[in-house]
This record gives sequence, C-alpha cells and structure tokens, in this order.
Amino acid sequence: NKPRILVARAIFPETIARLEQHFEVEHNQPDEIWSRQQLADRLKDKAGAFTTGSERIDAQVLDAAPGLKIVANMAVGYNNFDVDAMTAHGVLATNAPDVLTETTADFGFALLMATARRIAEGEHFLRAGKWDRWSYDMLAGTDVHGSTLGILGMGRIGQAIARRGAHGFGMKVIYHNRSRLRPEQEAEVKARYVDKEELLKTADHLVLVLPYSPSSHHAIGARELALMKPTANLINIARGGIVDDAALADALRERRIAAAGLDVFEGEPKVHPALLTVPNVVLTPHIASATMPTRLAMADLAADNLIGFLVHGKPLTPLNPEVLKK
Ligand code: GLV
Ligand code: GLV
Repeated sequence: NKPRILVARAIFPETIARLEQHFEVEHNQPDEIWSRQQLADRLKDKAGAFTTGSERIDAQVLDAAPGLKIVANMAVGYNNFDVDAMTAHGVLATNAPDVLTETTADFGFALLMATARRIAEGEHFLRAGKWDRWSYDMLAGTDVHGSTLGILGMGRIGQAIARRGAHGFGMKVIYHNRSRLRPEQEAEVKARYVDKEELLKTADHLVLVLPYSPSSHHAIGARELALMKPTANLINIARGGIVDDAALADALRERRIAAAGLDVFEGEPKVHPALLTVPNVVLTPHIASATMPTRLAMADLAADNLIGFLVHGKPLTPLNPEVLKK
C-alpha cells in the first residue's frame, strides 16, 4: 500500500510521474484554485502534500488532516506555513532552498538594471510610437556600475546578489540583516554591514531579499522611504507585505525616490491599483525563480523531500527537524 499524497497545484508531468512511483497521487493538473475547505477536504486521507507557496497550511487545515506527516513547499519562502502549528501537529515542513539561489539573484539584477536604466519604460515608449527624435535626457536613468548597492536581508540570495554587484559591476556593497555575516563571508562577497538607517540613507539601489514574517511586515513604509535618496531605486524580490505598496506608490508618484522594480506584491496576484498608474516602476509577476532548469530543480527537491521522508525516513531540507525526534 503506497502512501497517499496530494499535489496542490499543476506541476511538471515528469514530477507527477516520479511521485507516482512511490505514492498514490491525487493531483491538480487542471490547476484549479481551491478554497481552504477544498484543500482541507483533500488532505483528510493524505500522508503528504506538495505545495507551491500559495497554499496556507495552518491549524485549521491540519486539524482536518490527522494522517498528514509532511508538507513539502516548492519555494524557498514558507510564509504560507504556520510552522509552529505544523510542529505542534507533528507535521514535518520542508522548503526548497539553494537550488534557486543563483537564478533568483540573476533576476534581482535584471530587475535592478531594468529599473535603473528604464528599460520597461523605454519599451512602452517605443511601442506606443512616441520615439520620433533623439533628445539629450530621453529616458536618462541611474548608473549601476560604481554605485552603492544596499541589500536588506543577507541570506544565500542576498550574498549571491552582493557578489554580482561587487565583482561584476564594481559596486560598493552595504547590507543590513538580523545577524552579521562572518568576517570571511563579508570579505568574499565584499559587503559591509551597516544599520538599517544608514542602509536606507546611503544605497543608490536597495534590494530586498529578506523573508516575510510579522516582524518584516512593512519593513519599508513611508518612514523608511523618506530616508532614501530621491535618486535611489528600490527592488523587491522577497515577498509582498515587506513593502507598504500604497506608501511606495505615493513616493514614486511624488518622485521622492527615483524608481522601483517589484516582483512581489501585497495580496498578489492582485496589484495595488496605484502602482499600475505610476510610470517609474517595473512590475513583474513573481517570476524571480522562473527558469525551466530551476523550476524543475525546485519541483525535484520538493518531491525528494516527500520520497526521502515518507519512503526512507530522511527529508533533505526540513524546517522543523524537531518533528523527526518525536
Ligand atoms: C519564491 O518566491 C520562493 O519563495 O521560492
Ligand atoms: C533565503 O532563504 C535565501 O536563500 O536568501
């Protein structure tokens, strides 16, 4: 008797095929968006679940799923998990770190470059037929090389961005994080630790890569935006809710900062309507990890966690390993 698992969203057919070698799989290849009740109903008789970062796993869902042993998130972020509730229910949580670090850092840089050099604005301008002459300040943006790169959150992705900035673009890199890197790590990524206020005041390009939690909610709001340079750009590839989107839209409209590049939004896939009306923002639909090899590697890692734990008793990337000791 194979263990029963649920795959909550559509995923690579080859991932489903791999999982079917070990499990009785209920999948969602039509990619319907289930209500919380529909999710809970489907988890009733399952030992494991494959989630994609959007499905909220909390006490209410866990109460409905007494046989559940593991939920594997195909995302590095796991703010869709109430990890404490999962631990209390004896349910192992896993995420998908490392395999997306370099791909996500590439995208952070792409968004930084697009924002600083007004690439999206230029494209809209051209497509709209507005390009009829050269002019001295047409779409003039901000320099990237030699500027100061500020990084808020210095996990693996933050360090990969620091490396690109320091080694590739000759940027001065400063960062703020709850904990400081070790001196040899700081030396390797050429980043200098500063307090949050200095980070906000000094960065020419501020990239957010910290995890979302109640303590990082609106880490960038009106007060923080007011500390930034009027020439600065803000890049968010972390999570919606870390930035107060309404306050950011105001700051952009009033040119209190130069521009923003946003891949994540409060309440996504809805986007604050005010952000859609300001020109100096580049908007992308949460695609920082979206290359085919990386998405496949993330799916494989989530599948490997399910197989590793439910078949061999050994998950690869547990978030609450204390569950294993019970
Ligand atoms: C994407 O946002 C992820 O957390 O992997
Ligand atoms: C976050 O966990 C990261 O990898 O930066």
